[in-house]
Parts: sequence; structure tokens; C-alpha cells
Amino acid sequence: MHKIQKKNHIFLILTSFSDNTFTDRSIGEFRELLINTRENALFVGSEGAIFRLWAFNVNDTGENVFAKKQLVLTDSEESECRSTASEERLCRPSTRFMAFTNNMDSVYVCSSVGMRPEIRVLDSNSLQDQQEPRNEIGICVVDPTFNSTAVVVDNGNPEDASSVYSGIRTGMGGENHLIYRPPLTKNGKQLHASIRTIYSDSKWLNEPQFVGSFDVGQHVLFFFREIAHDNSFGERIIHSRVARVCKKDIGGRNVLRQVWTSFVKARLNCSVSADYPYYFDHIQSVKRVDKKGETFFYATFSTSETAFTSSAICMFQLNSINHVLDTGLFMEEDANGQFSVTADEIPAHRPGTCSSNSHSINDNDLHFAKLHLLVADAISGGTPILPLRDHVFTHIAVDQLQNQNVIFAFDSYNRKMWKISHWKEGNEWKWNLIEQQDLKISSKINDVALLPSEFFFITSTSGVSQFSVSRCPTLPSCALCSLDPYCSWNAITSKCALKTKTNEKQVGWVSSSWAGRISPECSAVEKLSVKDVYLGDGIKISGVKGGVWQKDAQEIENGHRHMITENGDLVILDMDVEDGGTYECVKGNVVLMRERVVVHENCARPTSVAEYRSCQREWCKKADAYKAALNIWSDSNKKNVQCKANGSNIH
Ligand SMILES: *[C@@H]1O[C@H](CO)[C@@H](O)[C@H](O)[C@H]1NC(C)=O
Ligand SMILES: *[C@@H]1O[C@H](CO)[C@@H](O)[C@H](O)[C@H]1NC(C)=O
Ligand SMILES: *[C@@H]1O[C@H](CO)[C@@H](O)[C@H](O)[C@H]1NC(C)=O
Ligand SMILES: *[C@@H]1O[C@H](CO)[C@@H](O)[C@H](O)[C@H]1NC(C)=O
Repeated sequence: MHKIQKKNHIFLILTSFSDNTFTDRSIGEFRELLINTRENALFVGSEGAIFRLWAFNVNDTGENVFAKKQLVLTDSEESECRSTASEERLCRPSTRFMAFTNNMDSVYVCSSVGMRPEIRVLDSNSLQDQQEPRNEIGICVVDPTFNSTAVVVDNGNPEDASSVYSGIRTGMGGENHLIYRPPLTKNGKQLHASIRTIYSDSKWLNEPQFVGSFDVGQHVLFFFREIAHDNSFGERIIHSRVARVCKKDIGGRNVLRQVWTSFVKARLNCSVSADYPYYFDHIQSVKRVDKKGETFFYATFSTSETAFTSSAICMFQLNSINHVLDTGLFMEEDANGQFSVTADEIPAHRPGTCSSNSHSINDNDLHFAKLHLLVADAISGGTPILPLRDHVFTHIAVDQLQNQNVIFAFDSYNRKMWKISHWKEGNEWKWNLIEQQDLKISSKINDVALLPSEFFFITSTSGVSQFSVSRCPTLPSCALCSLDPYCSWNAITSKCALKTKTNEKQVGWVSSSWAGRISPECSAVEKLSVKDVYLGDGIKISGVKGGVWQKDAQEIENGHRHMITENGDLVILDMDVEDGGTYECVKGNVVLMRERVVVHENCARPTSVAEYRSCQREWCKKADAYKAALNIWSDSNKKNVQCKANGSNIH
């Protein structure tokens, strides 16, 4: 198997406690998150209610920032549900999908209430119903473990009617997989019938697991993984895909009636290139980033869904997705079920082209479109970011800063977060891992949201946890501080603090002006800090995982007195005179930590509390060594007293 190459990273491993948490004892499980970054409002879906929280403090339940909308199931509905449900949990009223609509003034919520799909449109301030709740199938699923997706599209549909597009499973056991748009209505009048993929034909969708969907210009995009084919051992081979439909599509007149005429899809290629490319074929999550007129999709991938698998992050440009879907050759299935490429038979109306009236596309062209859905070329996701063994990156969030994108990747089950810089140099994208955090939450992660440059939020069984995007005060050196895009190093106090608009440009502060690298100013401002210790003391100097420790330019080996901890800290026990000197933690030729240690021997005349304590310790140790319990104790006690007496000028 291909070995994932190790990159030489400078990063810290931190244990992170949430800044704030929100919880409500009546709630069984907290699920979907939706954030309005203009109003700093965080909407939370759950088993039992919908909440509006204040993103700067999710624990603040003051009435001007907090709202709650209960999901109610009457006793009779509940008993009716229990008589048909395979599992009791499926009857509990619970949200499944939330999105903004009406220019963010409203929140569209689809919930499963007693196994009925219930649609609500809520006022985004009060969470009061703006319309009568209604039941409608095809938008959200009953079973929360099904990987479905949906997106509200307010603009660009036929007659500009607002609608939802979903990637969903329907049928008794969820056996039908489809991409669906419900009937289009305006002012209570139906304008167009519903439209979908052909679920009885596995060429369209073959047991897809959806991870995201997006409203992009005249199209809607769906990201998912599905069975691509069986290999020669009969194993199911999974590939990741992006599929695209046109918003204006209303299906064909005869052929592809009430079926997408514009559905096309292609493989997403997230692989490490080698003699044989090593593929991350299972897409797990995706987020959209719009920057300087370009649209990007950051997605996490794994090699399978099991716990001991490899993961990576890839980035896809909308331009390359559209280019491949608009110009690629189509695959065709032959009698043996094998796919091959069709070269020159593409008809005048190319599958995937948007038409202002899809009823007018001729039947032959639609016959071709029905059989030619998959484009032969794969869409490149660039160089995989942070390929890592033994983790599944289940969730992702991306913060767009001036000179870089900061990626937050999460492993739901292991409750870990990786923070990564991703930036462009010339035509090349580069990345660097900044830190890894062990998140102190009580159960697996259900969803993740981000308030740019401030906080990320996590839902789990017990509540909503709010974490700062950075832990500046814990960063021990200028080098590590300037690597973090949210922090600034104060050269005068030698402390790391949150980067602000003022300190960013102030003299005496060092912040990285370039992504992914340590600021060159650090070496100039980093003062040599001095640590005073006494004979017999034990000390700990903070370092960096994977760093090399040197004393006076000589590498330190792990030994019986010198220990380098898992996190890269240096611990020295029982300090001796020769332990004095300059200690440096070096990684990739960069000095990340430097400290001068001075060992004092003058037990005779302690002049400070520290000296005094050290002096006592020294005597205790010697007493231990003599092992002549009583005598020695009294002897050393006497000396201690003397030692104290000699240090009468203790201050
Ligand atoms: C949340 O706020 C309440 C009071 O409103 C307080 O008692 C509680 O300690 C807070 N919890 C956290 C985790 O901050
Ligand atoms: C949904 O996806 C997750 C991993 O992304 C997987 O573990 C789970 O089995 C999927 N659910 C179903 C019902 O297949
Ligand atoms: C995927 O990308 C890799 C690396 O760029 C390339 O070697 C490989 O041929 C691509 N695979 C497909 C199916 O296009
Ligand atoms: C304390 O001082 C006295 C006289 O200055 C000296 O004789 C003695 O050795 C000192 N004690 C210690 C523990 O250094």
C-alpha cells in the first residue's frame, strides 16, 4: 500500500475546553447548525425543538437573544407512530434540515414528527410560524442516519418560484434514491409538476450517500459518494461524485417526463499522485467558499468509513467542475455492464446543457441524455491536504482570511480538530498544519458551524459547544504565535494575544503577514528568557511535538534525567550545575523555543523564597540518601534551621 508521506510540520497539540456551552435537559440530541454571520445568530435543530442562540455566547438565554420553538407530538400521534415504527426513536419529533429563505428573514425547517415530514417557515428573530406547518414528502428523511441533503433555492427556478432541491431516500425502507424537486407552486397554484432522477436505474444514482448540495448560478450541485462498479473480486467500488442539474429544467415532454433532462455527473479525484495514484474515494463533507469572484468547494475524503482509515482534504474549483461537465466525453454501458467512452456521438443538445424550455428538447436527444450521465474525466481536487492515517475527517469548516483560507477539519468519533492554513503562491496552492486540538465534548460531533474569525460551534448529544478559533495566550513563542493567523506576538511582554485591527499594525507586535510561515521578525524580537533554578530542582520547558531539543547546540537524548514528552516538552529532573545553559527546541531549522537556564548553588545564603524552598529540598534529598532515618532527619533539620537562619534577609 502507498505510504502517506510525512510532512515536516510545526504544530501544537492542545486540549480545548469550550468557551461556552448551551444545553437543555428536555432535548434528546442536538443536531443541525445554521449560522447568520450578519446577525451573529446561531440556529440549532434538535430532537424536540429549534433554538436561536447568540453566537458570541451560546449560554446566554436572555430574551432579546434567545428563542425556542418546541416540536410537539400529541399523545395520539405518538401511539399511532409507535404502532408502525420499527424503532421507538424514529417517532420522536426531530429536525432534519434547516436553511435560510426570504433573504435570511426566515428559517425553513423540515422535521420528522411521528415519522411525518413537517415543513415550517419560521421568523428568524422570534421563531414564530410564518405559515401554517404542512406535511410534504421528499424533502427530509425519517431516519437521521440516512445521508441526505437539501438546499433552498429562492432564485432562478421556472417562474421564479422558490423551491427546495433534495438528495434523498424514499420508500418504506428508504430503498429509492433520488435527486428531487417538489411541485413548483406560486400563490397556492401549482405551476410545474415535481421532477426527479430515475430511481429504478442505477446508472443515475447507485446507492448514493449525499453530503451536500449548493445553489450555484443557473445550476444546483450535489456532492455524494456511490457504488461505481464491482471489481473482479465482486467488491463494491465506491467513487465520489458531483452531479449537476439546471434550475430551469421542467423535464421532457414525452421522453424523461417529470425527470431531469439536464442531470450529469463526474467523479471527484482526490488522490496522492504516485506510480499508482492513491485515492481517497469516500467523500464525507463539503463546504463552499466564494472568494474574489471564484467559487471553491472544500471537501473531506476518507478511504472508507471505518475507524482505521486514511483521510485528506481536497479543493475543487467550480470552473473545473463546469469545464469537465460541459466538455468531457460521456461513458456508455455495454452489454456486459462495462463502461467505455463515446467519442463523437454527442447530439446537438449536449446532456447537461440548460435549456429555457426543456419540453422542447427533441426525443432523440433526450434518449441519449437518459443513457449518458457520467462524464469520463474526473475533476481534480489538487494535492490532498493533510493526508492522515487512522482518522475519518467527518466535518469541515473554512474561514476566508485576507491572504489564506483556514480549514478546520474534524473527526467526529475521536473529537479532534485540525486547523490548517491553505494559501496560494503564484499558481500553486500550499498548506500547513497549525494545530491539532482534542475537543472536550461528551459525545460524537453531529454538526459544525463557524462564525468567521471568532468561534466554531459543535453539536453533540448533550448540547452546543462554542470554541474560539484560536488559543493565542497558550502559544509559548513568537514563532508559534505568528504562525497562527488569528494571533499576534507582543515583543515587549513576550506574550501571544488575539490579533486585532489595532495591534496588527502596531510597533512592538509581530503578526504573520504571510500565510503558513513563521514571521521573520520573530528572530529579532524574541528575547532570551532566563529561568533560574536551584540544585535538585525539576523543570519543564514547553516545546513542540516532533521538535528536537538542544542544549548549547548539542542534541539532548531522552534519558533518565532528561525526558521529552509526547507533546514535545522537555523535562529535566534533579538539576545539576552542568545543566545550566541555553536550551532550544528546533524544528525544520527553525528555533521555536529558546530558554537560558541558570542553576544556582548558593544554598548557603538564600535571598529569595524560591532559593529558600530549593535549599530545603536539597537538604531533604540528602537526608533521604543517608537513610539513617531519625539521626539524619534531626541533623538535616538542624542544618535547615541554620540555612533559614543564614537567610535572615529573606524577602
Ligand atoms: C451558563 O449561564 C448560567 C446562568 O445563566 C450559569 O449559571 C452557568 O454557569 C453558565 N454555564 C456555562 C457553561 O458557562
Ligand atoms: C452515512 O455516512 C456515514 C459516514 O459518512 C456512514 O458511517 C453511515 O453508515 C451512512 N449511513 C447510512 C445509512 O448508510
Ligand atoms: C487523478 O489524479 C491523479 C493525480 O493527479 C492522476 O494521476 C490520476 O490519473 C487521476 N485519476 C483519474 C481517474 O482521472
Ligand atoms: C550559616 O552561616 C554560618 C556563619 O556565617 C556558617 O558557619 C554556616 O556554615 C552556615 N550554614 C550553612 C548551612 O551554610
